[in-house]
Amino acid sequence: MAAEIIAITQQKGGVGKSTIAMHLGAAFHEKRKRVLVVDADGQNTLIHWASAASDGSGGIPFPVVNLSEAGGQIHREIKKFVNDYDIIVVDCPPSITEKVSGVVLLAATVAVIPTSSSPADYWSSVGLVKLVQQAQVMNEDLRAVFLLNKTEEKRMLTRELKAALEELGFPLLKTQIPTRECYKQAMALGQTVLQMTDRGSRLAAIEIRSCADEILAMLP
Ligand SMILES: Nc1ncnc2c1ncn2[C@@H]1O[C@H](COP(=O)(O)OP(=O)(O)OP(=O)(O)O)[C@@H](O)[C@H]1O
Ligand SMILES: [Mg+2]
Repeated sequence: MAAEIIAITQQKGGVGKSTIAMHLGAAFHEKRKRVLVVDADGQNTLIHWASAASDGSGGIPFPVVNLSEAGGQIHREIKKFVNDYDIIVVDCPPSITEKVSGVVLLAATVAVIPTSSSPADYWSSVGLVKLVQQAQVMNEDLRAVFLLNKTEEKRMLTRELKAALEELGFPLLKTQIPTRECYKQAMALGQTVLQMTDRGSRLAAIEIRSCADEILAMLP
C-alpha cells in the first residue's frame, strides 16, 4: 500500500512546524510504521537536527531527506518514496507564496496546521485555510486539523480563539502541546523527546504519542 502523506504546514514562521514534524515521525516510528520525514523547507531545520547527534548517542532513528530544492515539483519527488514507506511526514516552509505547500497538499491525506494562541497565528491560519480548500478541489481525500502548540500552563486558549479556529472550518486536535524546554534540547541533541528521560520529556512524550494517535485515527 502506498504511504499516507501528512503535511505540517502554516504560513507563519516559528509556530513549531519542524518540531511537530520530527516528533510525529518519531511517534509513528515507535508504532512500527515505516516512516520517512521530508524536509521541504530551505532553512533545512530537520536536516540540521538529524545530523546534530554526537557519534554514539541515539540520534534520529528514521530517514530524513532534503527535498527543499524540488520547489513546485516536490510532490513528484515525494511520490518516488510512497511505495517504500507507510507514512511520509512533510515539514513545509513558512510561506504560502511559494508553490511548495500548495503542491504538497495536493498529495497529502492530512494537513496538520500548528498554531499558538496568538492572534497573529490565527490571522495567518486564514490564508492557509484557503490554500487547503483550494487543494481539496483536486484532492478530495485531504483533511485538515489545527494543532495548538506552545500553550502556557494555566493560560488555556481563550474560548473566543477556539471558537474562531473552529469557525475556519477545520477541527482542533484534542491534544495540545505545551511549551516545554525539552523540545529545544531535543533539537540541539539531535534526538526527540521520546528518547529523553527527564520528567519534562516524559510528559512531552505522552502528549506527542496522543497527538500521533489522533492523526493515525484520521487516516483511511
Ligand atoms: N512546544 C514547544 N515548547 C517549547 N519550544 C518549542 C515548542 N515548539 C517549538 N518550540 C521551539 O520554537 C522554535 C521554533 O520551532 P520550529 O523550528 O519547530 O518552528 P517552525 O514553524 O518550523 O519555524 P519556521 O517557520 O522557521 O520553519 C524552536 O526553537 C523550537 O525548539
Ligand atoms: Mg521549520
